[in-house]
Amino acid sequence: MKIFRFLLLPALFLSLFIFNLCTKEHFAPYPGVEDAILNNCNLQDVSYEGTILLILQDNCIGCHNSTSPAGGYDYSDYDMLLKSVADGSLLGTIRNEEGFSPMPPGRQLDSCMIERISVWIDSLNVDSITPGDSIPDDDFVSTCDPDTVYFQNTILPLIVSSCATTDCHDAASHRDGIILTDYASIIKTGKIKPGDPDDSEFFETLTDDEDDIMPPSTLTPLDNDQIALIKKWILQGAKNNSCNDGCDTTNVTFAGTIWPMMQTYCTGCHSVSNPGGGIVIGNYADLVALGQNGKLMGSIKYAQGYAAMPTNQQLSDCNIKLIEKWIRDGYSE
Ligand code: HEC
Ligand code: HEC
Repeated sequence: MKIFRFLLLPALFLSLFIFNLCTKEHFAPYPGVEDAILNNCNLQDVSYEGTILLILQDNCIGCHNSTSPAGGYDYSDYDMLLKSVADGSLLGTIRNEEGFSPMPPGRQLDSCMIERISVWIDSLNVDSITPGDSIPDDDFVSTCDPDTVYFQNTILPLIVSSCATTDCHDAASHRDGIILTDYASIIKTGKIKPGDPDDSEFFETLTDDEDDIMPPSTLTPLDNDQIALIKKWILQGAKNNSCNDGCDTTNVTFAGTIWPMMQTYCTGCHSVSNPGGGIVIGNYADLVALGQNGKLMGSIKYAQGYAAMPTNQQLSDCNIKLIEKWIRDGYSE
């Protein structure tokens, strides 16, 4: 009897070992941070441009680019990268975690690269993302395609009016730590999986028939058409896209477009004699400076961390787009 008990433990270890060998082929174990440190990995000074982009270029972008976004991910696109961070697939795939396809296929990144990506992810926060920066050029199209659901035109206003209200998910209230006021914060909740609404917690809460339904039953729930729009947007990749909704954004100039708008909405509170918050908007150079430091887009988009401008009511979508386009196209005079 005693001898059996004596053998049981080694037998258990042996079977675990064999099991491990079998699974190893598909899931090489993640070497871990100790391994990275042991190999003199520099985990300081990790930045997007100096570190992460280079790793992605060498190891991922060949298969994940705008012409062939394998698995739906284009890692040459910063927004898409953020999405992959938010939905857990970046770390999941490179660490060969269960539920993800190991990436790059057939060979794992070395532990140093994995740790550097992980350090960079930890350093990300919504505030560091300049709102004006986060829309890539090619996602802005001049005419709306009826088969596409656009985030800026349709989804954001819907989410803001039903979710980002006072007491719920606006920047000040952020119930459950969730802010739903702009693309970056919505994606950074980690509850949207591009292309897969059924695996997106955000979408589930809209359709849930139990207590977790959002917006809560005391408020007006979204109707079926609105839910269908959100589903379609996620299916189409949950992009930060926008289109020209009858708003003429061709040939946007400071003199012809932007300055008249400033005079209507802003200069009253931002003149030399009355500079609201110490900010003067008196000429081209003043406004370019505000465009470059992110405050112009931040304030007119009512983004978290900026004073909301104009203070009384937000500019129309069209006016915001015009300013956005002016900035993106390099501040034409
Ligand atoms: C040789 C081509 C190739 C390279 C290199 C490559 N991938 Fe992939 N990747 C694919 C293909 C093909 C798919 C879709 C099939 C699949 O999911 O296995 C995919 C899918 C993915 C997915 C979605 C799959 C999931 O499980 O969620 C992610 C995320 C991803 N890759 C990340 C990366 C990252 C990060 C790198 C670089 C570290 C990388 N890939 C390098 C070909 C590649
Ligand atoms: C009713 C007066 C008023 C109007 C109208 C107004 N502003 Fe302001 N603005 C202010 C005040 C006051 C501050 C300082 C607010 C604060 O810090 O709380 C400010 C701050 C700002 C800031 C700094 C924001 C930040 O967080 O750093 C910017 C940029 C700005 N305004 C741009 C604009 C633009 C562009 C418009 C027009 C679209 C505009 N403002 C319209 C009064 C106004």
